[in-house]
Amino acid sequence: MKNQLILLGLLIGTSSAQGLKDLAAPRNLDVGAAINMFQLMDNPDYTDILEKDFNVVVAENAMKMDASQPQRGEFNFALGDLLSSYAQKNNMKLRGHTLLWHEQVPKWMTDGNFGKDELEEVMKNHIQTVASHYKGRVYAWDVVNEAISDSGGMRDTLWRRTLGDDFIARAFRYAREADPNAKLFYNDYNSETMNRKSNDIFEMVKKLKADGVPIDGVGMQMHLTLVAPPSITEIQQNMKRLEGLGLEVHITEFDVRTTGFMGTVAERNAATAKLYKDVVNVCLQAKNCTTFIVWGVTDGQSWLKAGSPLMWDAFFKPNPAYFAVQEALQGK
Ligand code: XIL
Repeated sequence: MKNQLILLGLLIGTSSAQGLKDLAAPRNLDVGAAINMFQLMDNPDYTDILEKDFNVVVAENAMKMDASQPQRGEFNFALGDLLSSYAQKNNMKLRGHTLLWHEQVPKWMTDGNFGKDELEEVMKNHIQTVASHYKGRVYAWDVVNEAISDSGGMRDTLWRRTLGDDFIARAFRYAREADPNAKLFYNDYNSETMNRKSNDIFEMVKKLKADGVPIDGVGMQMHLTLVAPPSITEIQQNMKRLEGLGLEVHITEFDVRTTGFMGTVAERNAATAKLYKDVVNVCLQAKNCTTFIVWGVTDGQSWLKAGSPLMWDAFFKPNPAYFAVQEALQGK
C-alpha cells in the first residue's frame, strides 16, 4: 500500500512537472521567454514559471545597446551576466538580443554626428566587445534588428544613413569574428507571412548567403494582432522558402495584441489560444523552425500593457493560451 502511494505520488508529481519545455524537447523545439530583470531578481512566482516551462531566456531590454554601452567605450554587462548565470544554473540557453538596432541606442550615439569611418568603428567595437563578452554563453544572436522598412526597402536608420546598405553584411562578419560558434540571426516584425517586407527580407538574406556572409537564421518576431491574424499557410510558405536557403527560423517575440476584439473575455482568450496553437503547430511542422519564444511571461508585465497577450494572466495563472500550447506540443 505504502509503495503504491509513493508510486502514485511520483506519477502525479511527474505529470504535473511536465513543463512546456519537457513536452517540446521530444519535438525538437526550444521554448523561451523574454525576461524582465526586476521580476527575475525578486519574484519567485515568476522564476517558478521560468524554471518549469522554459529552456531559453532572452533579455527583454538588458542587453540592448543603451544598456550595454551607456557611455562611449564604457560597457555594462551586469544585468546580462546575471541573466547568463541564471540561465547556466538552470540549464537554459541564452539568446542574445540585440547587437545592432536603431532604437534603444545610447544618447552619445544619437548625438554623436559621427562620420562614416568613426561610425563604422563604433559599430564594430560595439558588436565585437559585446559578442566577445558573451562568447560561449549566448547560443544565438539577433545581430541586426528591424533594418527593413514597413513600406518597402531598407529602413532609414542612423546606421544605414551613414554606413550604407552593406552595414548589415559587415555587422554579421564582425559578429562571426568575435564569436565563431554563436548562431547569427536577422530579426524583424510583420514579416511572418508572404508580404512586401518578408519578400525584402528574403531577398536580402538570399544575397547575404550568396555573398558568403555568415548568417544562420531569420527571427520572426510575431507580435501578432488578434483582430487581423496572419495567414498560417503563408507563414508556412515563408518558413519553407527560408529553409530553401538553408536558414533556421526562430519565433523570437511572440505575443498577441488583443485590443479591439469584439466579444467577451472568454471569447477573446479562446481566439488568442487558437492563434498560439496554430503558430506552434506551424513551427512544429516546419523543419527549420526550432524555437518559440514569447515576449514576456505575464499579461501584467507585457510591453503591450492591455488585454491578454501572453500565456499567464497578471496573477500568474495560466491563460487558455498556455493550455493550447501544451496541446499543440502533445500533438492534440
Ligand atoms: C520592447 C520592450 O518589450 C519594451 O520594454 C521596451 O520599452 C521597448 O522594446 N521589437 C523588439 C524588442 O525587437 O526589442 C521590443 O521590445 C519590441 C519590438
